[in-house]
Amino acid sequence: MLMKNLVRLAAFLLLISFTLTGCYYDKESELYRSSAVCDTNIVTYSHSIVPIMVANCNSCHNTALASGGVITDTYADLSLVAAPGGTLYNGVNWVGDLSPMPKNLSKLSACDLTKINKWIAAGAPNN
Ligand code: HEC
Repeated sequence: MLMKNLVRLAAFLLLISFTLTGCYYDKESELYRSSAVCDTNIVTYSHSIVPIMVANCNSCHNTALASGGVITDTYADLSLVAAPGGTLYNGVNWVGDLSPMPKNLSKLSACDLTKINKWIAAGAPNN
């Protein structure tokens, strides 16, 4: 009798655990948040480039502190170094013998680099 109850209890617990673990769902946009957010189809200065500069560059490259003579927080200044194969391109892509940017930090994400490179290749428009 006791044995039978134990078996019933075990079966019941098993059923409960299957029910609970089986009850979840995945959303692709939540699992792969970064890739879902990385939209490089439409790249503009205001939408794509400014946020990257704000997050990674402007602290060292502004009017008050123009490290290396480079200013990244205005379009007029950033566009001066944004020629194809120029210092902005080489700096962030770690090409040639310029200091790799952002200085002493890890390389920008592939997503950010794609945006910057596309923007430069398009002629660094003020859009
Ligand atoms: C912690 C400060 C710091 C940050 C953050 C930083 N830089 Fe620099 N950057 C410098 C300094 C200092 C120089 C001058 C060269 C040197 O001393 O290495 C420089 C030089 C440059 C140059 C001139 C060419 C070269 O590579 O030397 C460019 C272009 C540049 N930075 C772009 C950027 C961009 C774009 C970002 C953001 C992705 C960035 N920097 C982030 C400090 C910084």
